[in-house]
Amino acid sequence: MIRLRWIAACATLSVCSPLFAADPKKEEAEALKACAQAVLSGFRKIAETRDQRFQGKVSEANALCRGGYQAMQFRNTPWADWSNYWGAGDSTSIPPILLKNGPTQRGILGALTDLEYQRIELIKFNLFDNNGTYPEYVQGRDGVGGPALKRWDAMRLPADHPNYKDVGGDGSQTCKGGLIRFRSLSGICNDVFNPAMGSVGQLFARNMEFDTTFPDAAQNELVRNRHGDRLGLLKPDPQLISRKLFTRAQSNPDACREGKGISDSSTDSNCDYQKAPFFNVIAAYWIQFMTHDWFSHMEEGHNNDSQWMEVGCTNDAAQRMGCRPGDRIDRGYVAQDSAPGTFTANGKQYLTRAPKTFRNNNTAWWDASQLYGYDPISRQRVKRDPKDPAKFLLTSADGKGTLPTLSDADPMNPQWKGQEAAAFPDNWTIGMSFLHNVFVREHNAFVDAFEKQAQKTPNGDSGLRNPADAHSVIHYKDVTPDELFEVARLVVSAEIAKIHTTEWTPQLLYDEPLYKGMNANWSGLLGANGGDVSKVLADIVTKNFGKSADVAKATQWYSVFASGPGIFGLGSKISGYDVAKPEHVNGGVNHFGSPFNFPEEFVTVYRLHPLVPDLIEFRDLKDPNKVAAKVPVISTFEGKATDAMRSRGLENWAVSLGRQRLGILTLNNHPQFMQNITIPRLQSATGQIDLAALDLIRDREHGVPRFNEFRRQYGLRQLTSFDDFMDQHVPADSPARKTQQEMVANLREVYGTHVCDASKVITDAQRNPDGTPINDCLGHPNGSTVDNVEDVDTVVGWLAEQTRPHGFAISETQFVVFILNASRRLFSDRFFTSSFRPEFYTTMGVNWVNNNGPAAMVEKGTPNGHVQPVSPFKRVLLRAIPELETELANVVNVFDPWARDRGQYYSLEWKPRPGAESDPAFKQ
Ligand code: HEM
Repeated sequence: MIRLRWIAACATLSVCSPLFAADPKKEEAEALKACAQAVLSGFRKIAETRDQRFQGKVSEANALCRGGYQAMQFRNTPWADWSNYWGAGDSTSIPPILLKNGPTQRGILGALTDLEYQRIELIKFNLFDNNGTYPEYVQGRDGVGGPALKRWDAMRLPADHPNYKDVGGDGSQTCKGGLIRFRSLSGICNDVFNPAMGSVGQLFARNMEFDTTFPDAAQNELVRNRHGDRLGLLKPDPQLISRKLFTRAQSNPDACREGKGISDSSTDSNCDYQKAPFFNVIAAYWIQFMTHDWFSHMEEGHNNDSQWMEVGCTNDAAQRMGCRPGDRIDRGYVAQDSAPGTFTANGKQYLTRAPKTFRNNNTAWWDASQLYGYDPISRQRVKRDPKDPAKFLLTSADGKGTLPTLSDADPMNPQWKGQEAAAFPDNWTIGMSFLHNVFVREHNAFVDAFEKQAQKTPNGDSGLRNPADAHSVIHYKDVTPDELFEVARLVVSAEIAKIHTTEWTPQLLYDEPLYKGMNANWSGLLGANGGDVSKVLADIVTKNFGKSADVAKATQWYSVFASGPGIFGLGSKISGYDVAKPEHVNGGVNHFGSPFNFPEEFVTVYRLHPLVPDLIEFRDLKDPNKVAAKVPVISTFEGKATDAMRSRGLENWAVSLGRQRLGILTLNNHPQFMQNITIPRLQSATGQIDLAALDLIRDREHGVPRFNEFRRQYGLRQLTSFDDFMDQHVPADSPARKTQQEMVANLREVYGTHVCDASKVITDAQRNPDGTPINDCLGHPNGSTVDNVEDVDTVVGWLAEQTRPHGFAISETQFVVFILNASRRLFSDRFFTSSFRPEFYTTMGVNWVNNNGPAAMVEKGTPNGHVQPVSPFKRVLLRAIPELETELANVVNVFDPWARDRGQYYSLEWKPRPGAESDPAFKQ
């Protein structure tokens, strides 16, 4: 056991200051000894049961080895250890130069190891499918363990489905021929052996044990012990929570006017918000654009509008803060609310599904369905160019090519009138208009390039094949406009997934372990140069582990080894690949025993409304250092976006959204306009709704467990009081600590306290360190007054987290949800794995995705020490809006504010790059 005197000294101080600089040589000597001890103790075993999980906390020896004194210092907090390792922060996390590179490498490798452990455990303990496959997941089938199962009856197409016969009808169902060529409209046949998986209308999954969901219903003793009778759909009052914990404080409310600003986009308008120095407004809209691809609880922009409900604001205190008792909203749709069945396995009783289920009214695949459609209705809004049906129709309303508006004949919710035509048109503002226009232009750019090639080499082999006639070459000249449209969809979807994985996420999680981790997800830890080693590893993963009936091999070993070659393209390079063989076409996917769909808990952590500012600082590309107007986001809502886009110009919106910082995800940072939004379809006295409060209500309707149990279920350490939300890295006497104390006081005021009863066990997901069950007192003496930390709504909890890894725009709790689901989104999709092939994408399409465009380009310099390609989104923007060339010359990552000097090694400093010194954003 390592026993260091400083630990005792540190424990007596209310806050420890970093100690690692005092004597680096001595620290490194101790760290090396600890490394030896860690190696001798061997690898940590993967937990057998959920209450033995890793919780992101390593042994003392590993902490000291990977992060020295700093990592030791914070081991007792609830937060994961890896962020305190060497090299996991900015340049101050790199030890003094005399120690060379060793510690930094240990730190980063250690962090990646911890993250892989978390992923393995998440795959093992957090998959709960609602479609009827869960009993088999637990009990297995025909001698094969549940997590190694690959095919389910529940994923068959039903008899009334139009493609029922095509896939095999009553017999064994396998998609083939035309159904497997491209991404289908409704999402069927992505997995050729499980036709219905991920298609529109499938049920949302869960990442939580079913009996922990719907805590408001208090359906079992653990839940009753955990929350007493303190919870309800409107309890605690969501509008009170919104006004007290979500409202952005304003230094000059008259200049903000609830987000409306002073009229005419005046530059005198001002709405204060807390800004992230390393993430821009394009990044905010990007993630909204992604959610419109992945999921929707709503249908055509409304919920169950036959049932309207009240939304709180019932007491004077809340009303004095500005909430509205007259607001009403339509209830969410429910797919099933009958009592779920039960089954018994290993002496334990299980529910077959959650007590209520909900449909994902979008395809769950990363298939750019917000652009291309997800059902026949949304497809009618996708406008193709009659002169060249391979392309999207663009009008010349801005002189350069912009989306047409919806016509009266188009299916639409009346409130969308005047909007640009898009498959997913809801919650449209200038941000959606910008991204839709950019990617529609990208689609057309690919089609142009392909058609040019077809003119040059009409008889050349396009690479494309029709699985119905698998071995006939399709020459360039024979690729039909419909085929080319679908090929371009595949290419654009893959580009979007690549941008998200290798560009958006590494900027959202701006540090070296995550840069490496996300690039490993895509192209492997070995990178694009992995060559033969990558190929051999990919073969081991897909041919061996992927086919194994052994649960450990099919899940944990698969996940570990996939980090070598990367997930993207897994199974696509096997020798003798034959598009006529379903086992080749589908050979690279792995669902880990649970059909893929997003879980409700994923939707929760994407309720990212604080990212959006109230006012966009509008700039003209010709003079980008000047803010020419402040345009309220709400003045671009729905149809109003069309004129804003066309009259002000795509290139000017690009530089405006690109230079402005987005809002950080923290309490008291929701846009004012969202708390007061007017939505025409609302049938209420006010016609308004508080979206921040609605986020809480929707989560409660969907039965998302409250924050502390949510963390336990994901294998994270619980909090024992509101004080745990504070960041121990912040000095005790600093203004930041004072702000955190105020936040804690507000949480206590809203959620309250109670006298605890140690005889009440509140969870079976985890145990106390001494092995005893966790009870209502959370480690405090029986009968003492404890915080109602169990009741905190999950969105409130993750916004309140102040301890975050370096450069994290999201919290640790949100991050763990991403680790699981972001990988699964790639692992499960054959078009990102074994069907990433010329037979589907064309040769040009494969190259376009790999090279980020027609030819590879390398970024100048070595940003954060890496030689890297010019980023995929920068390449897209340069094609879609060539006017941006000068502005983008210094941009390495499109989601980093464009005029910021990125400095050295993951700096978060807010200072201008050369040439942008006069930009007023740097004077604030
Ligand atoms: C100007 C911007 C935005 C507006 C006007 C807006 C508006 C809305 C509205 C009206 C809803 C539906 C509420 C309901 O009845 O359930 C909603 C849901 C949602 N929004 Fe936003 N939003 C905006 C930006 C964003 C951003 C940046 C994100 C980031 C990811 C986001 C994520 C979500 C999510 C996850 C839901 C839940 C969807 C579902 O339940 O299927 N929104 N938003």
